[in-house]
Amino acid sequence: MCGIIGYIGPKNATETMLSCLQSLEYRGYDSWGLAVNTENGIAFVKEVGKIGAVSSVSALPKSSVGIGHTRWATHGRVTRANAHPHFSNNKKIAVVHNGIIENFQAQKKFLTQQGFKFYSDTDTEIIPNTIEYHMRRGYDFVEAAKRSLNHLEGQYAIVALHADEDQDQLIAIRKEAPLVIGMGKEENEFFVASDVPAFLDHTKKVIFLEEQDLAIINRKLTIFNLSKNIEVHRKIENIGWDPVQAKKGNFDHFFMKEVAEQAEIIERVVNIDKVLIKEIADEMRKAQGVIFVACGSAAHACLSGVYTLASVAKMHANFYFAHEFKNFKKFLTPESLVIAISQSGETADTLDAIRVAKSCGAKTISITNTFGSSLSRESHRTIIERAGPEICVLSTKTYTAQLAVLTLLAYELAGKMDEGVAKLKELIRYIYYLTSEEVRKFIKKIAENLRYTEHLYLIGRDLQYPTALEAALKIKEVTYIHAEAFAGGELKHGVIALIVHGTPCIVFTSEKNEREIISNAMELKARGAYIIGVGPNNNEAFDVWIKVREDEEANSICQIIPMQLLAYQLAILRGCDPDKPRNLAKSVTVK
Ligand code: G6P
Repeated sequence: MCGIIGYIGPKNATETMLSCLQSLEYRGYDSWGLAVNTENGIAFVKEVGKIGAVSSVSALPKSSVGIGHTRWATHGRVTRANAHPHFSNNKKIAVVHNGIIENFQAQKKFLTQQGFKFYSDTDTEIIPNTIEYHMRRGYDFVEAAKRSLNHLEGQYAIVALHADEDQDQLIAIRKEAPLVIGMGKEENEFFVASDVPAFLDHTKKVIFLEEQDLAIINRKLTIFNLSKNIEVHRKIENIGWDPVQAKKGNFDHFFMKEVAEQAEIIERVVNIDKVLIKEIADEMRKAQGVIFVACGSAAHACLSGVYTLASVAKMHANFYFAHEFKNFKKFLTPESLVIAISQSGETADTLDAIRVAKSCGAKTISITNTFGSSLSRESHRTIIERAGPEICVLSTKTYTAQLAVLTLLAYELAGKMDEGVAKLKELIRYIYYLTSEEVRKFIKKIAENLRYTEHLYLIGRDLQYPTALEAALKIKEVTYIHAEAFAGGELKHGVIALIVHGTPCIVFTSEKNEREIISNAMELKARGAYIIGVGPNNNEAFDVWIKVREDEEANSICQIIPMQLLAYQLAILRGCDPDKPRNLAKSVTVK
């Protein structure tokens, strides 16, 4: 949700930041901007739309220091004026910001009374002007920035530069929004960004800023922790990700590249440290109440986990959307265990749920794809999914990695870890087949029949119900078709009223519940629905059958893959961007 970049070093800041910003565009892509320090003050560009008009930056003079931003609008419409960077009234201070300044209206009023003028509708614009306000009172840039934070309520990551006061200097501040520093390979070279993929081409050595850290980046790096009011030393970590993993390679879109990587990812999950899996399973066994929390696709993985734990490990677990979780906190005790699942590890609602759990004394565990993320640092224990960077806004490979981790946990809890590992290993070849050219072509034909549809319904029972939910989410996110999923049994309680002649319905089946779900398919068919069956056996109820072999608990991993392909093909046919759907951002760092 908004991507930030800052650069200091021997390279041309504009070109370097532009490529970094492109790698960060999955965080927001409605508008963007860059500002660099020059001998004649701050030079900048701002554009509406996706980053692409590289020609517009050619006018920027060469510089060794700059900041950049790709926006996902929260306050203020998508306009050039609202794009970042934002400037102080004296044009000496430039700021990029991710997050929300909750008290911005009161602060704007205060600054207006002091004679400041505002040129955008954003909350961000009060930041450079509050800094200017303090500089007018005689404080230097760093001290004025520190003092400004006392006026800013909310969550934010900020990077700022000043035109005159040490031109080769950036200030970076983190409060409840991610910010990471990249230690460049060149002498005196630093990057600062919302997320590691931004500078993965340049360095894998990083420092994750902690809550309330203020970093002064000039020829050296100095970090103060504002809550402790002391200088702190933060560890340099080495990121295991390979820059090639964050590139499209021969694929047209990250979406398809990441779908195609799923067999390999199951292999990586199988190799996760078994001692860690065992220890986490022990925590689950000991707990009085296991509760999963998450948002979006990760929420569907949680729900799938609840079914898998029940059937494989005979364990009861609950699931709540992370944003709803606080309403149930009175049930929590120090014996409760809250497990948060999040690809990014930065989803504000999920972090909030973990903080609520901790405030009630509960134990917390996270399953995330992002090493060093806020979630991994704030929860007591973490399992890293090892899916590699996921760039497409839609979760695909990280979703299946989450399912695979949950499968391992369930089998370990049942005392059958070897069986769980064997089951996942057995899937690898089959997933290569499910993502093969042959299957893609077959799914493309089905997509051609559905391309003009406006409504689509999906049903499943048992583990196939979360799969239906996730498939519906994939389709609606990227094709803008209204796709809605229901538990098969719910159909006759209202939903069936929506079915008319030709309404496409996708029915997920498994051998365990075949009879019941086929009855539901028949009920749909009797009302004229066009039925696409997904499962191990064909049936006369189906107009089209997508064969996916029976794999019991692993059905959730296998059956979602053709649905990811269907969503992709529909997006292409309907002229939608599969990697960057409208209005969405990959990492939702606001509540
Ligand atoms: C956003 C993304 C979804 C994702 C959800 C949760 O809405 O568009 O694809 O599933 O956030 O993200 P997380 O990083 O917590 O898994």
